[in-house]
Amino acid sequence: MSSTLHSISTSRTSVRSQSFGSVLDWNFENPLLEGRNDRAQFRLTFFQPGIVRIQISRFEEFQSNPYSVISQPVETELSLIEHENHLEIHSSLLQVKVRLDSFQLSFFTSEGRLLNSDDPLSVSWIGSEISNYKQVQKGEKFIGLGEKTGNLDRSGKAYTHWNTDYFAYGVGDDPLYMSIPFYMGVHENGAYGIFLDNTHKSVFNFGASTNRFTYFSAEDGDLDYYFIYQPDIKGIIQSYTELTGRMQMPPKWALGFQQCRYSYYPDSEVYAVAQGFRDKKMPADVIYLDIHHMEAYKVFTFDGEKFTDPKAMISALKAKGFKVVVIMDPGIKTEKGYFPYDEGLEKDLFVKYPDGKTYEAQVWPGWCAFPDFTREETRKWWAEKMAFYTAAGVDGFWTDMNEPASWGQFTPNLIEFHMEGRTTSHREARNVYGMQMARSAQEGSFYQNPDKRPFVLTRSGFAGIQRYAAAWTGDNVASEEHMMAGIRLVNSLGLSGVSFAGYDVGGFAGEASQSLFARWMSIGAFSPFYRAHSMINSNDAEPWAFGEETEEISRNYMKLRYRLLPTIYSKFYLSSKTGLPLAESLAVQFSQDEKVFQSAFQNQYLFCDSFLVAPVESHKEITKVHLPKGDWYYLFSDQRHAGDQTIYQDCPLNYLPVYVQGGSIFAMQSQIEHTGEAHDGILELHVYQGKNGSTYLHYEDEGDGFAYQDGKYFSRTISFEPTKGKLSFTSGEGAYTSDFKRLRIYFHGFKTSQVEIAGRSHSLQNTDYAFLSRLTEFDPLPEHNHPYFEIDQLPYLEIDHLSDSFEINGLS
Ligand code: NOJ
Repeated sequence: MSSTLHSISTSRTSVRSQSFGSVLDWNFENPLLEGRNDRAQFRLTFFQPGIVRIQISRFEEFQSNPYSVISQPVETELSLIEHENHLEIHSSLLQVKVRLDSFQLSFFTSEGRLLNSDDPLSVSWIGSEISNYKQVQKGEKFIGLGEKTGNLDRSGKAYTHWNTDYFAYGVGDDPLYMSIPFYMGVHENGAYGIFLDNTHKSVFNFGASTNRFTYFSAEDGDLDYYFIYQPDIKGIIQSYTELTGRMQMPPKWALGFQQCRYSYYPDSEVYAVAQGFRDKKMPADVIYLDIHHMEAYKVFTFDGEKFTDPKAMISALKAKGFKVVVIMDPGIKTEKGYFPYDEGLEKDLFVKYPDGKTYEAQVWPGWCAFPDFTREETRKWWAEKMAFYTAAGVDGFWTDMNEPASWGQFTPNLIEFHMEGRTTSHREARNVYGMQMARSAQEGSFYQNPDKRPFVLTRSGFAGIQRYAAAWTGDNVASEEHMMAGIRLVNSLGLSGVSFAGYDVGGFAGEASQSLFARWMSIGAFSPFYRAHSMINSNDAEPWAFGEETEEISRNYMKLRYRLLPTIYSKFYLSSKTGLPLAESLAVQFSQDEKVFQSAFQNQYLFCDSFLVAPVESHKEITKVHLPKGDWYYLFSDQRHAGDQTIYQDCPLNYLPVYVQGGSIFAMQSQIEHTGEAHDGILELHVYQGKNGSTYLHYEDEGDGFAYQDGKYFSRTISFEPTKGKLSFTSGEGAYTSDFKRLRIYFHGFKTSQVEIAGRSHSLQNTDYAFLSRLTEFDPLPEHNHPYFEIDQLPYLEIDHLSDSFEINGLS
């Protein structure tokens, strides 16, 4: 008895923080610096000149997450300088200083500018929890961290990574569905990124309840993080996505408008909604089947009464140019005779208790078992089961409730997951479960339809999820503040590698007002993922369900979205190559501009590089917009504004404040009703005069399938050099013949009336041009009329779209 008491009292020391302490032994062999003491070991690995991985472990073997990082170290020239009390490793981009007495790390640029340094408390444990404390640099701001609410600058707040089903979350609530432990610090010496590659519940504190340091900690496992430096934020995001991967090129239809509801049923209603878009001349590509398509919410079933012939329904929808996306929840009803349950048991595919009994919890179908997606056999099995949907003609998959969610919202931590062979508990596996389900869905889609590009939409995920799925921000609320918060969530996902992201336009829970819906539809047109969705038991929420004015405004922006598809598609292609966001917070390009972080402006972002979108609540008639350095054109009128100033902008409901960056180029096409419909063959290019020029990559391919990977694409670079007054087109690359036969180039902000191509002079023509149609004035009261903008006498040139290189000269 007394010995037990004795051990309890001495073990109190382990509940105090224990630091790493001093390094007793070390060894350097490019790319590794390894060392240890009695308590723990560490390893620094240079992945590239600008990426160092830091691992610190109390275990004999380092533990790592098998899912997020997919790249290997590349050969990097390094030199080690040994000082009495510290070591320095130099690469061409970075210097890392390691103190041997306290194991404090500091990171400098190659010119010696301090980027980031550990606090003297450095690395320590409290029980199994491991933390790293970092000093805050002067004026430092913190951005990123994936799907996190709150401000663009995360200073003063703390965040938890623990994937959580959170219906109707508040706009400051945390954690939500997806965890991406990657952030960037930005200050006057530069910017850097930190990715904590530990899947346990983790905390990132940027100064909540402390003025001493920032820190990140994980409940268990190693401290395993990547320090990334590049001279600019784009470079950091590129490096982060080199590590964790990039989205695959989605099918073109996934860039169109998507309509969802919890739930459309029976089949006649699904059909009627789809028909509604065609009747109303509102372009749309996708309709969703939410959980009521199933029999008693059982995955891999159709409700035979509500959907008597799913295949016929889907083929009728296809004939109208619609794709069908179906929801898949992980929970499998524990019902004897229901084949996924029987098979899962037989093949031992479910998550279990340590004593081998199947773990069960309740979700929509009642008591459920959960496939262990951290096991390859399970992912394969699920992928095979998906034949059930693809045989009916389903084109896309929506993995929902994959945190995994269950009623009670409190999964016992002892349940066990395979985790690729090294069985682990829920504590380590939860955050990657949803990502592995999305992976299985993507693999299943590809396995069933090897000629089609998969489209998967996921709610839950972890770092690297962008390789498998698009993401949406879960159960938001029909409110103005949620609309604005969703924009920040999507921008933050973009900073964290997930460029294909969006929110439920209109709000999932609650009822959108007419104006809120109209505004949300306008902003959503400038979101990478554009889908309206609404909750069971709510009013109809299709874009025609809110009265004439909202219907017309929605139609206008949906049409604009479709007209912009050549640009959006090209930028998706670029993003699949670079990992850079499609909706890009202004903090990426203008991180030294303090205004960008102010609450009035923090939601502003660049969409597809050219468009500065300044989202504004629907009840506002006037708003303040911050225009960073450069020149800017109000999209709808071409009114020009100098940059580096704040302007007041009228924002009537039918005009969302959008500006085009001077010097930039974007492309448009004629109106179509869905992405499968042919346009008129004229590629519109819009070029804006400005101090700085730009380069636009125009990209086309078949819109689906993989032939583009074997060279069947058309791409060319179009560059505008204002100082030379020149617009140059490289010759078309690739084995695909452009869909466009003619080029119509609009010149915004130019005085030129004559240009020269290959020594021949061409006179420009002029036309009035509008990006949005005039609204019908339904209301007889003239004071209720809507403003209307068009650009008067916009100069343009129309020529054949040839694939040879050429230049247009004489632009001023
Ligand atoms: C929760 C999802 O977040 C929501 O979008 C969906 O409609 C419901 N589950 C029902 O499936």
